Amino acid sequence: MADKPVLWLPRRVSDATIARARESYEVILNEADDVSTADEIVAMSARVDAMMPCHSEIFSADVVSRLDPRLKILANHSVGVDHCDLAALKARGIAVTNTPDVLSDATAEIAMLLMLGAARRAVEGDRIVRSGAWDFWSPSFMVGKQVSGARLAIVGMGRVGQAFAKKARGFDMEIHYYNRQRLAEDREFGATYHSSLESLLPNGDFLSLHCPATPETKNLLNADSLKLLPAGCVIVNTARGALVDEAALITALRSGQVAAAGLDCFVKEPGGNPAFADFETVFMLPHIGSATVRTRDAMGFRALDNLDAFFAGRTPKDLL
Ligand code: DGY
Repeated sequence: MADKPVLWLPRRVSDATIARARESYEVILNEADDVSTADEIVAMSARVDAMMPCHSEIFSADVVSRLDPRLKILANHSVGVDHCDLAALKARGIAVTNTPDVLSDATAEIAMLLMLGAARRAVEGDRIVRSGAWDFWSPSFMVGKQVSGARLAIVGMGRVGQAFAKKARGFDMEIHYYNRQRLAEDREFGATYHSSLESLLPNGDFLSLHCPATPETKNLLNADSLKLLPAGCVIVNTARGALVDEAALITALRSGQVAAAGLDCFVKEPGGNPAFADFETVFMLPHIGSATVRTRDAMGFRALDNLDAFFAGRTPKDLL
């Protein structure tokens, strides 16, 4: 029997994924579950036929240029691929896949949690009760912003954007979206299409980001675009930190142009931006959009499906 291909799992994926991977691959684990340096990734490329990276492993043009020819495929355990220089990988003939679909609902759940938590002052409320400081109540105490029936602007109506729109309909929100292309009506979930960000933003009492991080979308929320939003809006980001000019958002929070924000993604990860911690109006999570047992299994299995197809000589479903 031919030797099994060697697969590196640079991060600790689900037990079910590891068990299934071992059936078809000789698996190398990173027991430390830490982020590999460029040199570690390059060194590992000489030992393996395939890698299953997460968004934490950076395949810059420099790293890609140094990869050993033994490495044939990156089956990403993520839908986002902004950590990969796709053009450089393609030029080296290394196949790249991702895991769309399977994390849309879990990520949309976190967007909903952040939207509700930011609007209804979850951080402040939790702190007051938890610390024992809750000694007062009145009709004017901890008044927030109502989500039900409000206008929601979605930037990027891909799979996660659509899953979020579907959930927001349950809150009777008036949904608007901007996407490169208008969707078929059955995928719009009653939302109104805008062909430009400038047209969308004035409708964003709540604004949720769901587009990929690319050179074109870097800092799409900046000092200028933030001014186009209604005063007192709420920003939600479950996509990527690079979409937001964090300094501009902090200024807008300070002035009240943005009333609150729910953030799962930051420019610097892990770690986030400590300046946000000054605001009780900012509800933050540590990039856990897809972090459910079911979804993490599904992501691992989707990555393995792509690997299995590749090593069987078929085109992987999620080949980029
Ligand atoms: C993704 O899949 O892109 C999520 O952000 C987790 O990495």
